[in-house]
Amino acid sequence: MINIIGIGPGDIGLLTKEGERLINASDVLIGGTRNLEIFSDFKGEKIEIKGSLRDIIDYINENKHKNISLIASGDPSIYGIGKYMVSELGKENINIVSGISSIQYLFSKIKMDMNDIYISSCHGKEPDFDYILSHKKVSLVTDKKIGPKEIAKEIIKRNLKKVMVIGENLSYENERITIGTPEDILKINNFDMNVVVIYDEG
Ligand SMILES: C[S@@+](CC[C@H](N)C(=O)[O-])C[C@H]1O[C@@H](n2cnc3c(N)ncnc32)[C@H](O)[C@@H]1O
Repeated sequence: MINIIGIGPGDIGLLTKEGERLINASDVLIGGTRNLEIFSDFKGEKIEIKGSLRDIIDYINENKHKNISLIASGDPSIYGIGKYMVSELGKENINIVSGISSIQYLFSKIKMDMNDIYISSCHGKEPDFDYILSHKKVSLVTDKKIGPKEIAKEIIKRNLKKVMVIGENLSYENERITIGTPEDILKINNFDMNVVVIYDEG
C-alpha cells in the first residue's frame, strides 16, 4: 500500500494531521523538489521526481515491502497525481489522503463560496475556452504556457464581462492575490505559480 498524500498549497501548517502521521511513519518519501524541501527533517530515504513518472511507478512496484509515501501539492484528486496513480497501481493498492487544494485556499482567502464552481485546468493541455467561459464561476490551475494573461485575452476576445482573481504563491511568504478585469490583468508584467478564478461581473 502506498500513500498519496496531498500536502496543501505549501505552508506546512496546512498539512493534515493524518498526512503528517503517515509521512513520519514512512521509510521513503517521494515528491517534487519544492515539496520535498518542506520535509527537511524527514529521516528516511527521499526520492525526487525528475522527468518521467514511469521510473517512480517501477520503483514502487519493486519496493512493495517498504512503507512509501508520495507527496503532492494541494489535493491529489484535483488535477493532481491521484488519477494517474489509480490507473497505474490500482485503487486497492493506494491510500489517498486529501489535502487543501490551492483552489480551495484561494476561495477562502477571497471569502467567496465554492458552490457551483466549474473546476478545470490549463496545466499541460489546450483548454476549451468556449466551454470554460460559459460557466458563471470558474477556477483553473494554470502553467507557464497558459496563465492569467492568456486567459484574459480569451475573455476579451469573446467580449465577456468577467472579473479575474489571480492567486500567486498561495500560502508562501510571497503570496499575492490580484483582483481585476481582464484588461487590468494584461497590464501586470509577470505572474508566478498561480490559480485563477473567473466570475461574472456584477
Ligand atoms: C499539477 S497542478 C496541481 C494542483 C493541486 N492538486 C491542487 O489541488 O492545488 C499544479 C498547479 O496547481 C497550482 N498551484 C499549486 N500550488 C499552488 C500555490 N501554492 N499557489 C498557487 N498555485 C498553486 C498551479 O496552477 C500549478 O501550476
